[in-house]
Amino acid sequence: MGHVSLSRWTMSYFVAAVLALLAAEGLMVSGYGFPAAPIEAPSTLVLVHLVTLGWMSLLLCGALFQFVPVLVAKPLYSNWLPLPTLVSLVGGLALLLCGFLQLDGTITHELPLLPAGGTLLGFGFVLTLYNLARTIWTARPLPLPARFVVAGLASLAATFTLGIIFTFVLGGVADAPPLVALTTAGLPLHVIAGLGGWMTFTAIGVSYRLLAMFMLAPEDKRVTSVTALWGGIAVLVLAVGGGTVAVLLGADPAPILVVAAILALPVLALYGYDVANLYRHRKRRKLETNSRIAALALLSLGASALLLIGLLVVGELAPHVGALVFLVSFGWLTGLGLAKLYKIVPFVTWLECYGPVMGRKPTPRVQDLVVEARAGKWFYLYFAAVWLATLALLGGQALLFRALAACMLVATGALAVEFIRARRLADVDAATRLPEGTRRPRLLLAAKSPA
Ligand code: HEM
Repeated sequence: MGHVSLSRWTMSYFVAAVLALLAAEGLMVSGYGFPAAPIEAPSTLVLVHLVTLGWMSLLLCGALFQFVPVLVAKPLYSNWLPLPTLVSLVGGLALLLCGFLQLDGTITHELPLLPAGGTLLGFGFVLTLYNLARTIWTARPLPLPARFVVAGLASLAATFTLGIIFTFVLGGVADAPPLVALTTAGLPLHVIAGLGGWMTFTAIGVSYRLLAMFMLAPEDKRVTSVTALWGGIAVLVLAVGGGTVAVLLGADPAPILVVAAILALPVLALYGYDVANLYRHRKRRKLETNSRIAALALLSLGASALLLIGLLVVGELAPHVGALVFLVSFGWLTGLGLAKLYKIVPFVTWLECYGPVMGRKPTPRVQDLVVEARAGKWFYLYFAAVWLATLALLGGQALLFRALAACMLVATGALAVEFIRARRLADVDAATRLPEGTRRPRLLLAAKSPA
């Protein structure tokens, strides 16, 4: 795939992200937050942001620093900015979580932790946007996957802007009426911009390219993909933009959101159609584990869409929105994230270690860095647990949910070990592991002068 440069700090993002995921799953096992506590409880807010910011946003940012340059065939604007960015995001998240704990009195300090956390997180995301925007700007006209990413990044901006407004109002440092109105009625807009725009739209864009690349499938510019892009943007503008206008005018945003949800379904169907085509027309006949597992994540996205329709039809969306958000977050986004990590970690590790001697020395293949049969069963355990846990939430079985969360935790922990083994070349045959001129990659930081 030609010349690929390595993003230096991406592995550090991945390590921080996986630690946050393990921590969140540990909290779910212990019965912290939803479903034992209400959805709007501070403990649930802690759990939700450990997952959405600590795990998913760090994973996505780390992946984008590596893959936006691949998508647009230009080098990353700055390879050192990701370090201060990571420090701001992790520090901001820690302050935000402490701020949530102030809300329920667990922390009794008077310091304005919520606004401080929101601001520091906002700073980290602005650095992210700046670095990626400078990279993307040089590559116009943009290829289709990169356009999805741009829309995803715009949604990130909307998400953290609303989030910061919430922290200022809840933290008692802002009381302007429009900001209070947004805090009282704008929560669904924050959630849709975050999970729908930033996470899902970016993942869709990146997956068009990664699925094609890893399965050796042709990447035609299909009319269905272009329609999915513009349809998706229209849905997001309607939901987040229209919803914000409604809230500021003092109207209920709910009808707009229902229309947007219905319009989102054909967009997801178009994406599903495209992805099915990528699988069908692939040249790599035998699917690798990461592609087989990504299919389970895609099925979870489809199941989420069906669950949304079902709940809307029977008028039960409000009481079960927690189960829906759980399935989107863990079945679709986390499932896809773990599956792609299982390819990306060996792939960039291979490039770092063997890229410099490629063609001059015999090297292992990328697939030699992993033991697919061993990881496969942990992935199946993970998905089985997520799907059953969704049913447990729908059925109001809190204890069963915790037992299934324990299965998710075990599976994720085992997969984390697999990622570390791949990074440390632990499964490569010792005789061929380090040919002359190579050295074992470090866990957190990629070497400076790669392939
Ligand atoms: C700078 C970043 C962020 C800040 C400062 C922030 C802040 C907040 C605050 C203060 C609330 C509570 C609002 C209220 O109760 O009225 C909230 C709720 C929520 N946020 Fe964020 N957020 C951020 C990023 C994100 C992202 C990236 C996502 C998803 C991808 C997300 C998902 C959610 C969800 C699902 C809720 C509702 C949780 C519940 O009701 O239990 N947030 N956020």
